[in-house]
Order: sequence, then structure tokens, then C-alpha cells
Amino acid sequence: MKLAEKKGAAKKPAPTVYELLPEIKPGQSIELLKELHILTREGKLNQDSRRKLKQVYHLVQFIEPLVADVLAQQGAAAQGENKQGVSLVDHGAGKSYLGFILYDLLFKGKPAGEGGHIYGIETREELVQKSTELAARLGFEGMSFLNLSVAESTESSKLPATIDVVTALHACNTATDDAIDFALKKKAKHIVLVPCCQAEVASVLRKNKGKDLGRSALTEIWRHPIHTREFGSQITNVLRCLQLEAHGYQVTVTELVGWEHSMKNELIVATYKNLPRKRPAERLQQVLAEVGLEEMAQRFYV
Ligand SMILES: C[S@@+](CC[C@H](N)C(=O)[O-])C[C@H]1O[C@@H](n2cnc3c(N)ncnc32)[C@H](O)[C@@H]1O
Repeated sequence: MKLAEKKGAAKKPAPTVYELLPEIKPGQSIELLKELHILTREGKLNQDSRRKLKQVYHLVQFIEPLVADVLAQQGAAAQGENKQGVSLVDHGAGKSYLGFILYDLLFKGKPAGEGGHIYGIETREELVQKSTELAARLGFEGMSFLNLSVAESTESSKLPATIDVVTALHACNTATDDAIDFALKKKAKHIVLVPCCQAEVASVLRKNKGKDLGRSALTEIWRHPIHTREFGSQITNVLRCLQLEAHGYQVTVTELVGWEHSMKNELIVATYKNLPRKRPAERLQQVLAEVGLEEMAQRFYV
């Protein structure tokens, strides 16, 4: 009897990785998570990768309803088979954690009209090559990677004339501004940005400091070098938000929680609503003038 019980117990199937690790969602590609070094070769999740996964999920949570909104708009405009699916461009994609996990969770295995295509834009050729190979290995046909700068991609014939969703996660320096320019020209419905440090505005503040310091007591805000850098970063994001509003977008700024290790955890989500543009456009010009950044008007064009 005891032996039979033991034999019965031995037949019980070993728990799957999905049962062992509640962080892994049903159907999620284990191969992908191993390739991204989120899971170890043995299928284990260490502290670091658990945190990385949590961070990416957090962003996915913001993007999922935006994707659903695009599909709903397409559904309202066209019936059934005429739906095209969502086009999403991720700028400064790096190893494309975000693009791959988004595709795996939201688009994989869906019919064309209910899924979508994700384009990763990246200047480092070796990363583009690796991502292209990985997408082919996983059978992620709706993923393409282009070895282009963000600015080049705006003019590239390899991308469609309009794009539904644009993301840029810690795209370096002015790559976030180029991503905004891309999104405006491609008439993006939704834009998701987690900006990196931007040195350009701080350098103009620094250059003009001598002549501006006498202007107003508020110039004290960026008198000390560390303040010049920090205020430069902050005012850049303020100007980006005003620029997006001046193009008819509704803008939400929040904190990307779970990104505690990074200083740069400001999340800007913009949704095109064709809102009145005059007031934010005026405010943008006023802010540029108040802080002596008139020469940056082209960067934050309306
Ligand atoms: C800090 S990494 C972020 C990678 C990824 N988005 C993430 O969050 O894991 C920034 C990436 O942007 C790329 N990059 C920087 N400037 C770029 C530009 N102008 N156009 C395209 N890619 C750029 C870099 O090569 C790098 O891979």
C-alpha cells in the first residue's frame, strides 16, 4: 500500500514554470525570458530580473489600454477584416525588452486586425541584429528592427506614413525630442515617454547665465552648476509637455514607480484629442522667453 502510494506520488507531473513563478503570465514565452536573461537557463528568476520584469510590466500596464483604444477606434471606423492592427514604434530600443514583452503579451498569435506590428529603432547595429535574429527564432513575425537614428527614422521609407503608438524609454539626450518630432509627424494617437537626461537645454541655460542672472530673482534657480543641470532637465520636460499640448494632445505626467534605481523615472503619456492649442502654444513661448531659452524655439516647435 505504501509502495503504491509512493508510486502514485511519483507520477504526479512536475509543476510548470508558470505554476512555480506567479510573475510569469500564462502563455508567456519562456524562451524569450531566457534570451532576455530575465530567467536563468534553469528557468529561475533572481532578485534583479524579478525587479526588471516588474518594471517592464508596469510600463506594459500603461500601454495596454492605449493599444486597446487604437483597436477600438479601428473597429469603429472599419468593420471586421478591414482592421489593420496597431503600429507601435519603440525609439532607442536597446535590447528591446519592452518591445519583445509587449509583443509576447499583447500581439503574439493574434489575427492581423487584432494584433499589431512593433518597430524597434536603435543606432547600435549589433543590438538591431540580435533582436532581428531573436524575433525570427521566436516566430514574432510582426516585429522589425531598424538600424537608424530616431531622426533618420522620421524620413525612412521603411516605416509607414502614420504610426499609432510611439514609445521612447530612456532614449538618450535629445533622442526623446526627436521621438516627439517623429510622433507629431506620424500623427501618433498615443505617445509614451520616459525621458533620459537632456543636456542641450542645460547647456543653453549655462551659456546665457551671465547675461540672464540680472534679469529676475528667479534666475537663482539655475545659478549653481548642479541646479543648472537639474533645472535644465526639468524645464525640458515642461517644454515637451507644452509642445505636445500645443499640438492638441492631452498630457499626463506621473512617476514610473518600480524604477527606483533610476533617477529618470518621469513618465509622460500623451493622447491625441485635438484639444485647443492656442493657450499651451502661448505658454510655451512665454516660458522660453522667461528663462532665456528663445533660441530653443525650433526644438520645441509648435
Ligand atoms: C539607455 S538605453 C535604453 C534602452 C531601452 N529603451 C531600455 O529602456 O531598456 C538608450 C538606447 O538608445 C539608443 N540611442 C541613443 N540615441 C539614439 C538615437 N538618436 N536614435 C536611436 N537610438 C538611440 C542607444 O544606443 C541605447 O541603446
